[in-house]
Amino acid sequence: MRKRIIRVGIIVIAIGAALFLLIQIIPIGPQRTNPPVVAEPKWDSLQTRVLAKRACFDCHSNEIKWPWYSRIAPVSWLLANDVLEGRAAFNFSDWHAGDMNSATMAAQINSGKMPLPQYLLIHPNARFTNAQKQQLIAGLTATLASETVRPPSTAPVTDGASLLEARCTVCHSIDRVRKAKKTRDQWVQNIKRMVSKGAQLNAAEQSMAIDYLSKTYGL
Ligand code: HEC
Ligand code: HEC
Repeated sequence: MRKRIIRVGIIVIAIGAALFLLIQIIPIGPQRTNPPVVAEPKWDSLQTRVLAKRACFDCHSNEIKWPWYSRIAPVSWLLANDVLEGRAAFNFSDWHAGDMNSATMAAQINSGKMPLPQYLLIHPNARFTNAQKQQLIAGLTATLASETVRPPSTAPVTDGASLLEARCTVCHSIDRVRKAKKTRDQWVQNIKRMVSKGAQLNAAEQSMAIDYLSKTYGL
């Protein structure tokens, strides 16, 4: 009986080890690399950049320091996904005026959502005191306030283009929208997500936006 338990134990461990080795060969994708730095925001001070680099650059930049365990699946998949989504939200190394507003950043920092809590567990250097958080927020606010973002248009909204110009540039530049290519279903999801973030569109405007987006930036 005892021998059998040991034998089953060995088989289970062997299968586990084989699976672990097998998943290592699954490729992670291009987000594992650091593309060149294109443009950074016009930092108000070196101090702001230093704080942002410490706490935010490992997911929101092209200067990511990949630790040794970032090569080992399944941790590598989780990290690669954080970077993919982090860079999609905004990228300090590929910055266009208006890519992300400071109010959203401040809210994320104050609520403890950013940096991601699991990241702080292994990066004590990014754990800030309250004073440091407020310093970073003040710095980001000053940095982004100096950007010239085209103000939302006040022209009457009569077609898809002017609707997007008026309602979508409140939080990010229209480049964000122009860069995206999506199927109609994906645009439906996108508009739902933007509304949940605070985009002001009534039901009729939502369908106008979806029609225009899938026609103009469709797949
Ligand atoms: C370990 C990776 C990681 C770090 C470090 C990190 N972020 Fe993020 N961030 C993400 C991911 C992933 C998303 C997209 C998913 C989400 O919104 O939760 C994101 C999204 C955001 C968003 C968009 C939120 C929204 O409403 O969609 C803001 C703002 C943000 N991060 C700010 C920051 C700031 C400021 C820092 C530094 C103080 C920071 N992040 C550090 C991973 C990270
Ligand atoms: C209340 C703020 C806000 C408004 C208004 C807003 N967005 Fe966004 N949008 C965000 C944030 C934050 C992100 C980055 C995080 C993310 O993608 O979840 C984003 C990212 C995006 C992206 C890139 C990510 C993706 O899904 O491809 C697209 C495209 C986009 N928005 C489209 C729009 C359109 C179209 C509108 C107008 C109908 C709009 N947004 C209005 C906050 C907003």
